[in-house]
Amino acid sequence: MLQKPRGTRDFLPDEMERRRLIEERMRAVARRWGYREVCTPNFEYLELFTMKSGEEIIQEMYVFEDKSGRQLTLRPEVTASVLRMYVNEGRVLPKPIRWCYFADCFRYERPQKGRYRQFWQFGVELIGADTALADAEVIMLADDLLHTSGVEFDLHVGHLAPMKHILRDLPPDDHRMVMAHLDRHDPQALGHALEAKGLGDRTELLLALSECREIDEVFEIAGDVPERPRIEETFTILDSQGIRYRPNFGIARGLDYYTGMVFEAFAPNLGAENQILGGGTYRLAYLFGGDDAASCGFAVGFDRIMVSIGDFPLEYEPVVGVVCTPEARTRALEIARAFRKTGIRTEVDLMQRSLSAQLSHAARTADYAVVVGQRECEAGTVTLKNLHTGEQRETTLDDAVAEVMRFGRC
Ligand code: HAM
Repeated sequence: MLQKPRGTRDFLPDEMERRRLIEERMRAVARRWGYREVCTPNFEYLELFTMKSGEEIIQEMYVFEDKSGRQLTLRPEVTASVLRMYVNEGRVLPKPIRWCYFADCFRYERPQKGRYRQFWQFGVELIGADTALADAEVIMLADDLLHTSGVEFDLHVGHLAPMKHILRDLPPDDHRMVMAHLDRHDPQALGHALEAKGLGDRTELLLALSECREIDEVFEIAGDVPERPRIEETFTILDSQGIRYRPNFGIARGLDYYTGMVFEAFAPNLGAENQILGGGTYRLAYLFGGDDAASCGFAVGFDRIMVSIGDFPLEYEPVVGVVCTPEARTRALEIARAFRKTGIRTEVDLMQRSLSAQLSHAARTADYAVVVGQRECEAGTVTLKNLHTGEQRETTLDDAVAEVMRFGRC
């Protein structure tokens, strides 16, 4: 038996229906905030991702060459594609631009629960607004989106400026390495790395910063951070709107394009892979040949949200199985059409089975059987059988439709 590739999943209909329901809720929230959906290719030129993140990122991607020798990759995320699209098509649009997407992403990672090689992100990007309110809007939208999905979560909001201020004597290229240790919560490696650069005294400061939960204390630790007014303004807006979050200035974020505010959300009921959302402010447009537009966005790890909320009951939709004799087939198809027109799920026999075989199949797959034989054809009626109670009666088509529509509503 052939198996699916490692790190991928198949979704059966019940699971797909649950996923679509939550996906639609997320789309509706984004739309209410003015974010309109876009779609980009699921493969891109490799360069789009290596330009900012360097060649190391190739290890984590599905990279391939096409028949003309172009270096391509399946997208590991969508932000870079959206910003490329903004540079290609969106530069003339009035700013700020509010876009959202729901897309599958591919990362060549070691699979485990909550970490897949193909996974889905629901994300938003706000392009061309460089204010504390813009940062706050994206965080508030994330909060609304997560609440609406029904997941339980803790929201952490931070900013890279205090961390960068502590590291100001270190060349910017080395920041990335230090941030990676912080991101992995590895104090020992962090200490060794800073020691090697002659900045051992900063280790304690960085660790204190990542522990710190009070905004005033952040500036006592980090000193005179020029971005302080902007950071405070963002937090004041969030507080004024009753957003529940925890200041966390230890957030470093794995991707290397963030420039200022950063935020993450965690689901307490998940294991090691409990980060369900990540985002922040960044600048990418200039790299792709555009202006230096300030941007801010986030992506929700859709699959982790689904694991966290677990299986919930779906609204039950009644199913009708139309059962007929060979002579009544045309009438049976008309009847099926009438049921479907009102939105009822209706299936007809495709296997030319006997009436009794059709009925026993319907008993396993449907809530009602609608039986159409010669008598019903002549009388212009149908026989409606409730497959749960076994009750059956001959009636008009309209009445049968009305009864099925009432099913489950009482
Ligand atoms: P990210 O933190 O790399 O950020 O991914 C966002 C979310 O995707 C994570 O918080 C996690 O829930 C989910 N995720 C990541 N990798 C996997 C995986 N292998 N399996 C399942 N879920 C996964 C970004 O991708 C940025 N583009 C977010 C952003 C948008 N920043 C600004 N705008």
